[in-house]
Amino acid sequence: MSWTLRCFDDGRTLGAAAAEHARGILRSIQETREARIIAATGSAQFCFLEALTSGSGVDWTRVEMFHLDEYIGLSADHPASFRRFLQEHLIRPTGMTRVHLLDGDADPEDVCSRVGRELQSAPIDLAFVGIGENGHLAFNDPPADFLTERPYIVVTLDDVCRRQQVGEGWFDTLDDVPRRAISMSVRQILEAREIICIVPEARKAQALRASLTSPVSPAIPASILRTHPRVTFYVDRESSALLPPELVGGE
Ligand code: GLP
Repeated sequence: MSWTLRCFDDGRTLGAAAAEHARGILRSIQETREARIIAATGSAQFCFLEALTSGSGVDWTRVEMFHLDEYIGLSADHPASFRRFLQEHLIRPTGMTRVHLLDGDADPEDVCSRVGRELQSAPIDLAFVGIGENGHLAFNDPPADFLTERPYIVVTLDDVCRRQQVGEGWFDTLDDVPRRAISMSVRQILEAREIICIVPEARKAQALRASLTSPVSPAIPASILRTHPRVTFYVDRESSALLPPELVGGE
């Protein structure tokens, strides 16, 4: 088994441990060079990003950041915009300046190619990801495209995914949730040298069990993370409740 699972009592201790892990990786990279990372958005990232940005030891002026996804047709100041999420929870708290934000207002294919070129101009050291309630990775809903080598693609969101966004309080109604988005492709995510996957909360228990125990398949997009040589899943008691006991230790 190339992947590691770390289980914590709650989202706060999970977030603190994942943040310490991430800072350790960034500190060691920065001994010799700049670091390139992929950031995730979504409520599962709150505790992690708060712990990551309030800790010390990382020179954020030497971190270049890309992110996983953004809605098409949502303005950057909309409360559910992932650009706004990153400004509030990562960019402003750290003062990082080398950021590549996905412009959901511009022509999506232009954004995919332009930011994709910048992304592929050098290796990615570390990716932060989450898993959707439908098992999606970024906005790669099931059945996900495991083959495209394009770094970013335009996707159509399924209703389970869109309902998740309403359930989390990002939108009032399903009709308010955009139907299309820009998403980093699955293969591009797997290009990262190391992946930290943050999965707290009971609403993720079924998707997590499927991702860790079912055969790797486009029907469970996050299941492909198990094929990556260096991925750590950070889970809590609630999200890991359906996992076979032999998989879950405890910290
Ligand atoms: C969201 C995002 C993903 C995120 C996942 C989990 O919709 N598209 O990038 O990792 O679904 O979201 P959350 O953290 O809100 O549970």
